Amino acid sequence: MTELKKINALMCGTGEYTTGWTGSGASTSDKKIGVVALTLFDLRRLGKVGHLGMVGVNGKKFPAIKSHLEKNIAGVYKDMDVSFEEFPKNGEVDAESYKAAIDKMQPGEAVIIFTPDSTHFPIALYAIEHGLHVLVTKPATQLLSHHNTLIEAAKKHNVVCFVEHHKRYDPVYSDARAKAATLGQFNFFNAWMSQPKSQLETFRAWAGKDSDIRQTPTHSYYLSSHHIDICCWILQDKAIPTRVVASAATGIATSEPYNCVPETEDTITLLVDWQSTTSQSHRGTAVYTASWTAPLKSGVHSAQHWYYMAEKGEINVDQAHRGYDITVDDTGKSWINPFYMKYSPSETGHFDGQRGYGYISIEKFIDAARSVNAGLTTPSYYDETGLPTIANTVLTTAILNAGRISLDEKRPVGIKKDGAKWILE
Ligand SMILES: NC(=O)c1ccc[n+]([C@@H]2O[C@H](COP(=O)([O-])OP(=O)(O)OC[C@H]3O[C@@H](n4cnc5c(N)ncnc54)[C@H](O)[C@@H]3O)[C@@H](O)[C@H]2O)c1
Repeated sequence: MTELKKINALMCGTGEYTTGWTGSGASTSDKKIGVVALTLFDLRRLGKVGHLGMVGVNGKKFPAIKSHLEKNIAGVYKDMDVSFEEFPKNGEVDAESYKAAIDKMQPGEAVIIFTPDSTHFPIALYAIEHGLHVLVTKPATQLLSHHNTLIEAAKKHNVVCFVEHHKRYDPVYSDARAKAATLGQFNFFNAWMSQPKSQLETFRAWAGKDSDIRQTPTHSYYLSSHHIDICCWILQDKAIPTRVVASAATGIATSEPYNCVPETEDTITLLVDWQSTTSQSHRGTAVYTASWTAPLKSGVHSAQHWYYMAEKGEINVDQAHRGYDITVDDTGKSWINPFYMKYSPSETGHFDGQRGYGYISIEKFIDAARSVNAGLTTPSYYDETGLPTIANTVLTTAILNAGRISLDEKRPVGIKKDGAKWILE
């Protein structure tokens, strides 16, 4: 058997998802020690990953981040090396230090991007053009045209480019997708995803660079992207979205005590028409709603449920309540989801979350990149699978981008294919 070589990787972004460290200290969400760095440290322990780098904007944050990782990862799990090369070095502040970090890398190495939404595209493109494999968090890009550019660039440079849609690896979601395939023509999909108002504090830090919180997210991009992707994945090769109309509720994020910039929306709903590709007469409707002004103390960090109806049946998924809850005097009742990231150590004291879908999502990318490097597979092979490659996720971006235009211009937006490319009209 061909021996797969270890792969070196660069983490872009030093925030909540990467390290669990936010501008105001350790995250209070369900990701106190993050996902990306922890997973890569564990994959290094298991021999899949070699040298690790991490790039942010403000190098002065690294001492605090390093002591947070030492204490909460190296100090908790056995045999965990939490070292990495930092960029920018010597406490410098440089929003473009990702270029210096990437310039030092060799083709075939890996870059994992968890930075504010508006920066995904320039960083991903820079990495791809250097012949590096890329895993970019969702939303891959804010504009469909940028998404199309990444598809072309990944093809040209023959690299793996995945979008980190980890919900595809949730055992419930992937099983539900298989069941949906047996239910005939699609008819109706309804998804709800929300996070508590307290998240608004985290996102305000994004305003630092973009100077406008709205530029970066709108939670439709941030939250709805999850279930829009699941719906697109269920309907892959079965139906296509043709028209998007969006509506937004406002007034909570912009009031005391959050005081977000006036354009910040609270709850966004996208209404999307879907046309079957196998039957002219079958059309479906999808309603995707995301809110980041949900109540505090609801017992879950992200409320998330969806409903799918087709010709021969229906599916109900409540991903937030999995029949496992804990009540503590101080904090009340909370519903736990260890299937995403399991932070409790194994019997031997090692990290034990290798079956969590947050972990699997990163591991599948690392495995694909190593397999391509060894000549066992080609990047285009992954487009033929249900994996979230940049090519396989283009309709998710098309819907999100169309939703943004519909809100801004107060009109329905069409989605159609122009030759091999998806465009908006
Ligand atoms: N936190 C989550 O639960 C979660 C889950 C899935 C996906 N995401 C996605 O991850 C991304 C970032 O999320 P986060 O929660 O870690 O945010 P965060 O605000 O905690 O961290 C963002 C990080 O990006 C860095 N950054 C900003 N501009 C940069 C640049 N030019 N070069 C390098 N680094 C730069 C900042 O220094 C910061 O460390 C977003 O796109 C978000 O949608 C987050």
